[in-house]
Amino acid sequence: MHSIAIDGPAGAGKSTIAKRVAKKLDFIYVDTGAMYRSMALYFLRNGIDAGDEEKISEACKEIEVSLEYENGEQQVLLNGENVNGLIRTEEVSMMTSDTSKYPKVREKLLSLQRELAEKKNVIMDGRDIGSCVLPNADLKVYLTASSEERARRRYKEQIERGIACNIEQIEKDIIARDEQDMNREISPLIQAEDAVLVDASDMTIEEVVDKVISLYREK
Ligand code: DC
Repeated sequence: MHSIAIDGPAGAGKSTIAKRVAKKLDFIYVDTGAMYRSMALYFLRNGIDAGDEEKISEACKEIEVSLEYENGEQQVLLNGENVNGLIRTEEVSMMTSDTSKYPKVREKLLSLQRELAEKKNVIMDGRDIGSCVLPNADLKVYLTASSEERARRRYKEQIERGIACNIEQIEKDIIARDEQDMNREISPLIQAEDAVLVDASDMTIEEVVDKVISLYREK
């Protein structure tokens, strides 16, 4: 099986790029952030405090996360319920960053992610794909862009979805989330030694897609 790992900070365009590359190469796109988001939704719904590691670890036993594909689009199921439309709010984003640092939460998803890559050719995006989940990926990309640019893109995305938001607040939230994701003890966001750095600040989506595909073909 072949695999491509795309890691990087929030809002760098990982999912947009990975989806398009997946289509062109006929790979399955796996959005690992959505899996962590669905667990965070469960904690929020059950009124569990992000700081309460014990309760969160206990709750992990009650959660089953699975994936389905509808017209090639990944759907994440939380105990059988499709929660795709509920996991993209700022509240869920922050709760996800707050709770994905716990070992029990990560353990739960690691094996699922590896199993997917054993069965299919995948392009997987997240924070620890190249450094932890798929250490033998054929290609590892660390995709980044300036925080201003990432906030601008996230703002546009939310407005298009009809969600009112404030661009300064989005940039603040992005920076706080990156800070937390990069500094946690387990599987922090880092550029794997053998990952190729791609700074997309001044690149179009098509340019980044072409770059990833040519890097993959070179390998
Ligand atoms: O990619 P995203 O913005 O949907 O991810 C949401 C949060 O999930 C992110 O702030 C950190 C966490 N995450 C993680 O810890 N490991 C991954 N492989 C993917 C996401």
